[in-house]
Amino acid sequence: RGELRCICIMAVLARSVLVTGSNRGIGLELVRQLAASPWPPHHIFATCRHPEGPRGKVSVDTVNVPSIQGAVRAVDSHLKDQGLNLLINNAGVSSHATLHSLDSQEMLSVFATNVVGTLQEFLPLLEKAAKGAGKEGLSCSRAAVINVSTKLGSIGLCLGVLQAPMYPYRASKAAQNMVTRCLAVELQEKGILCAAIHPGWVKTDMGTEEAPLMVEHSVRGILTVLASLSQDTSGTFLDWEGNSLPW
Ligand SMILES: NC(=O)c1ccc[n+]([C@@H]2O[C@H](COP(=O)([O-])OP(=O)(O)OC[C@H]3O[C@@H](n4cnc5c(N)ncnc54)[C@H](OP(=O)(O)O)[C@@H]3O)[C@@H](O)[C@H]2O)c1
Repeated sequence: RGELRCICIMAVLARSVLVTGSNRGIGLELVRQLAASPWPPHHIFATCRHPEGPRGKVSVDTVNVPSIQGAVRAVDSHLKDQGLNLLINNAGVSSHATLHSLDSQEMLSVFATNVVGTLQEFLPLLEKAAKGAGKEGLSCSRAAVINVSTKLGSIGLCLGVLQAPMYPYRASKAAQNMVTRCLAVELQEKGILCAAIHPGWVKTDMGTEEAPLMVEHSVRGILTVLASLSQDTSGTFLDWEGNSLPW
């Protein structure tokens, strides 16, 4: 029955999906599971900053505006009038800087990737999808922006100063959370859902081998949560199991 539930969810997720940072880690697994589903999206744009490798097709360096604009044109020409249904802003960088080792350049460069990223450029394609989908309400199958966040960025949880305080990473993810919250309010009228998702502590290059969660497990959960999102859960911060987190 668990298998059947997954199949149904995958069937309705979205007609077109774009994932940033999809050459490894959580982004790669998102693309792998989407493509392997019995009814995959018609279009999966697996973007990464160095697409000359065997897996990448569309180049998106999220700190390079011309690269993002080039991707928007490529995606638009593939999708024609349909627009993009689901944008998953997954690309991210970590930084373990402490209060003493921190320098402003590092802070800004982590913000450039984790907060600014693809904030604006894909909005016209999402609006097009929202208008043309012939659907009411909010959902990932109509139009959505999903920002991959972390509970380390939650001010409400305030997990304390860890062994590695990660000032740039945690501050940037708190800022990304505020962007998600503002976007959700601003884009609601346009029919675009926005939410932040914490993938858990996952075994990837960033999460390290110490992490308890396998990437397959985290991503299966994320995709299940995405399929369940609606008007009521737009503007929320959820983990990979669908639990609500404080901002
Ligand atoms: N793993 C965890 O435990 C964990 C926990 C909470 C949240 N997250 C979040 O989950 C997301 C994915 O993390 P991950 O664990 O999969 O990390 P990862 O294995 O380190 O992968 C990071 C991905 O982001 C890409 N990236 C970084 N800067 C980029 C840029 N300027 N343009 C385009 N792509 C860029 C990387 O591409 P390159 O190969 O080109 O560097 C790579 O594909 C991140 O947003 C992270 O903050 C992860």
